[in-house]
Amino acid sequence: MSRFYLTTAIDYVNSRPHLGTAYEKITADVIARYKRLSGVETHFLMGNDEHSQNVYKRAVERGMDPLAYCDQMEQEFRSVWTQLDISFDDFIRTTEPRHRIAVQKLAQRCFDNGDIYEGHYEGWYCVSCEAFKQEKDLVDGKCPEHPTLAPEWIREKNYFFKLSKYRDPLLAHFREHPGFLQPDNRRNEMLRLLESGLEDISVSRAGQLWGIPLPFAADNVVYVWFDALINYAAAVGYGTEDAMFGKWWPADLHVVGKDITRFHTVVWPAMLMSAGLPLPKQVFGHGWVNFGGQRMSKSLGTSLDPSDVAQRFGPDPLRLYLVKEISYGGDGDFTWERYAERYNVDLANNLGNLVSRLAAMAEKYRGSRLQPTGPSGRLPAVADASFTKYRAAMDALALHEGAAAAFQLVDAAKEFIAEKAQWTLAKDPANAAALEQVLFDVAEAIRVAAVLLLPVMPGSAAEILRRMGERTRVGDLRLDRDARWRGEGVRDIQQGAALWPRAEGAITVEETPIGGAGEASAPQAPQAPSGDNRISIDEFMKVELRVAKVLEAEAVPKSKKLLKLKVDTGADQRTIVAGIAEAYQPEQLIGRTIVIVANLKPAKLMGIESNGMVLAGSPEGGLPTLVGFDAAMVPGSRVR
Ligand code: MSP
Repeated sequence: MSRFYLTTAIDYVNSRPHLGTAYEKITADVIARYKRLSGVETHFLMGNDEHSQNVYKRAVERGMDPLAYCDQMEQEFRSVWTQLDISFDDFIRTTEPRHRIAVQKLAQRCFDNGDIYEGHYEGWYCVSCEAFKQEKDLVDGKCPEHPTLAPEWIREKNYFFKLSKYRDPLLAHFREHPGFLQPDNRRNEMLRLLESGLEDISVSRAGQLWGIPLPFAADNVVYVWFDALINYAAAVGYGTEDAMFGKWWPADLHVVGKDITRFHTVVWPAMLMSAGLPLPKQVFGHGWVNFGGQRMSKSLGTSLDPSDVAQRFGPDPLRLYLVKEISYGGDGDFTWERYAERYNVDLANNLGNLVSRLAAMAEKYRGSRLQPTGPSGRLPAVADASFTKYRAAMDALALHEGAAAAFQLVDAAKEFIAEKAQWTLAKDPANAAALEQVLFDVAEAIRVAAVLLLPVMPGSAAEILRRMGERTRVGDLRLDRDARWRGEGVRDIQQGAALWPRAEGAITVEETPIGGAGEASAPQAPQAPSGDNRISIDEFMKVELRVAKVLEAEAVPKSKKLLKLKVDTGADQRTIVAGIAEAYQPEQLIGRTIVIVANLKPAKLMGIESNGMVLAGSPEGGLPTLVGFDAAMVPGSRVR
């Protein structure tokens, strides 16, 4: 049985995953699931990159031990990946012993081969990229990737890796293996870079404690990129489990973002050549996902939490959007409007509606049991064409075309049922057999489409298969056998609730009118009940309690109690002044999910217009504690 070892970039843990990092994991997961569906033994690795200075700084800012901070972040990352249904087989952290052993072994090998030497580095360093920058890489003295951050000028004794020595072998490798880096535009870019020559790179940082000591000079730590790249070998046992390493190395595919393809297709292969190890078979440099046309950035408030998106309709509509709407390898964009539109078109109106309609007709006319009664119409040929297109696209990593091929079959089935199963056919008992064949064909087309969609929408496709009477366990389904048309057998169709109810406005970003009276939340003493002070549910529902997310927070000058918050209410971004300054530092609040009264009339507090009120538990004589949730919540959700 063939095997496939697939990896993603490992993430810096100085902040939570955003939609861009999630995009990479989702698309890699689609590839992993496709390989498994194709009967290939698959090993899918993800992980966290922890030895970054930014990670260290973030831990210190929070007053935490860096390792304890990374432990906490691991849980956050894992929980997001679970929410998005990512099926990794292994998750590596660069602080694990297996990783340290592998890094030290590989560094020692390069050193023993004469490829690491001592020197001095003097120049720019961008901490956000964790990369050394040449003067010519800077724009107005700033790193173009991080224009709000000044690069650091560093001067230190470093160890260097002889990257320049590998320029010719790398060029030869690129030329002999055109598939080594895909897509082609990134390959061409890297070829040009190689042709222009390579400089040696620093592989250590002096005077730092957070990192893995160089085995031959323990007062230096390994430069974070040299460290991180080795995770791919470490995870499959390099230096610790030879048999496992023999089985899985070299990797078949590294999925990484376009910004880090140079590290993966120049630096990493040169390190492997130096250590005498085989090179990965392929690196795929995917494009960038923006949010509303802007680069995702926490500091600019243009970052989007994938849990928030997955909470609106579950993980599958998001997975489908990212896979089908963005040509894999190119850049893409996410907007709530477009997301709602695609949800309604592809899922609510199309696939979801088709499944419901078929199930309803099967129940009404055939007691939910379908069997073939005569020759099939045109759908088997469409299914065949979709299968062929799908497989070719998925094998070529054109994931968007794979998803589109599955939907071509859905579209064809929808047209077919609309055209054939008209009331005339259903009403006339003489047509009963013909109707049953139509329904059988449509059920079969839905079944085939669901098998094709399993990698993209694992949960929903499994549910559709169950409803279409598929008896094989999902994990045992195989593309070659089970995505082919089956013109025989009995189908027991299962009924179920609408898979994707139409999104009616709830998701689109629209102005929420603000009415009512009120002020920002200063702690209040409990009121003594006066007679019957109960209210009706209708009265309660007049108070619009909503989930919101804090985007910015700052102290209100000359006020001990007040903080000025900018919050995302799901419908808008607004300022709220809250009386919580004695209990919270502004920076603790950024990114936090809170509950607000959204329909208060604006009120001025210390000269600032407050548009709503933040809810907090306010014990008498004590400090306020913000109301929160024990699971992730989407801004805009109603609290009731
Ligand atoms: N830690 C390094 C990778 C080391 S791999 C040995 C790193 N981490 S990262 O957290 O900054 O990025 C993780 C991955 O997410 C990278 O592949 C990066 O390209 C990708 N993305 C980050 N932002 C992205 C988008 N907005 N869109 C798509 N992918 C994005 O780099």
